[in-house]
Amino acid sequence: MYHIASIGGDGIGPEIIMEGKKVLDAVSDKYNFSIKWTDYDIGAERYLKDGILLDEDDYKSLGRKDAIYFGAIGDDRVPPGILEKGILLSMRFYFDQFVNLRPIKLLKGVETPLSGKGPEDIDFVVVRENTEDFYVGIGSLFSKKEKKILEVKRELYNIKFSLDIESDSDEIAYQIGVISREGSKRVIDYAFEKAEKRKKKLTSVDKANVLSDIYGLWRKVFLEEAQKYPGVTHEFTFVDAITMWFVKNPEWFDVVVTPNMFGDIITDLGAMIQGGLGLAPGGNINPCGVSMFEPIHGSAPKYRGLGVANPCATIWAGALMLETLGEVKASEAVVKAIERAIDKKVMTKDMGGSSSTREVGDFIAKSLY
Ligand code: IPM
Ligand code: MN
Repeated sequence: MYHIASIGGDGIGPEIIMEGKKVLDAVSDKYNFSIKWTDYDIGAERYLKDGILLDEDDYKSLGRKDAIYFGAIGDDRVPPGILEKGILLSMRFYFDQFVNLRPIKLLKGVETPLSGKGPEDIDFVVVRENTEDFYVGIGSLFSKKEKKILEVKRELYNIKFSLDIESDSDEIAYQIGVISREGSKRVIDYAFEKAEKRKKKLTSVDKANVLSDIYGLWRKVFLEEAQKYPGVTHEFTFVDAITMWFVKNPEWFDVVVTPNMFGDIITDLGAMIQGGLGLAPGGNINPCGVSMFEPIHGSAPKYRGLGVANPCATIWAGALMLETLGEVKASEAVVKAIERAIDKKVMTKDMGGSSSTREVGDFIAKSLY
């Protein structure tokens, strides 16, 4: 029995999580395991009512689960950043989910905007570092003078910056990015191990030609780790160049490892070449802790409650969750069932179909064989 937390969140989040749970329950019946769901009321509604994003009890209780299944957050009534940082990023950091795993795979029957490319050309995974870089959230916007202590608290380390800034500009802003040896090493190792089990090629992304301190360290650690995996071919790309190669030659890639912010950007591009955000899942993974699985798209508040949201990314994220829990056969069955829905055109409008969110979920839940 797996104990899984489910967080619908905002906008279309609750609807797509409902379909995901339906499919995972159906597949668990077939493959002889069971899931005990605990639903959490986390998101904009609660924040607007009680001012709470996540409290100690939430963390404690989530920390006892085998995994977290997450819909989406984001709401027009809350200024941008509050929910994203206070809920999603907080959970990634608190549970030290240092890998953000995003498969870029063109499923059978899905159209890609890349002409002449098919499922055999678009099948790689992006391993995005998930706790460091410019996402550490420390910076400031100020005028003239400022003294500030900025801190990063992680399981791996605590860092304290004491800044004493004088400026005669009217207003400046700065943001500090942090890359650590430990933080890069663990995610790069994870990516090398992943590549060993796939086509044995790992591509690292950086911008060491300009941001040479922060990404110079990343590159140095990557090269050091590469020595330990002689069976894996390794290469570097700059982030600007990789956006070009994703479009021109996606078949070159097997596993791509990237610092956090570049990973955010290139996986939206990846989502497009695999058929759109409606088909792009992600896992926030701590191999020794509580991992969290979510679609990479947002909460699309204007579609809330209309039954038009595509549940496939969330259902696929559920398959990633099963794979991580060790239910590999069940995980494969879910992805195959998504392909059957695509084949039979039981799809939402974004994919050219006319089915509702629920109809897609029902069809996939019945196609698990
Ligand atoms: C993603 C999202 C998040 C990110 C936001 C919502 C904080 O864009 O998961 O890619 O930037 O990581
Ligand atoms: Mn993103």
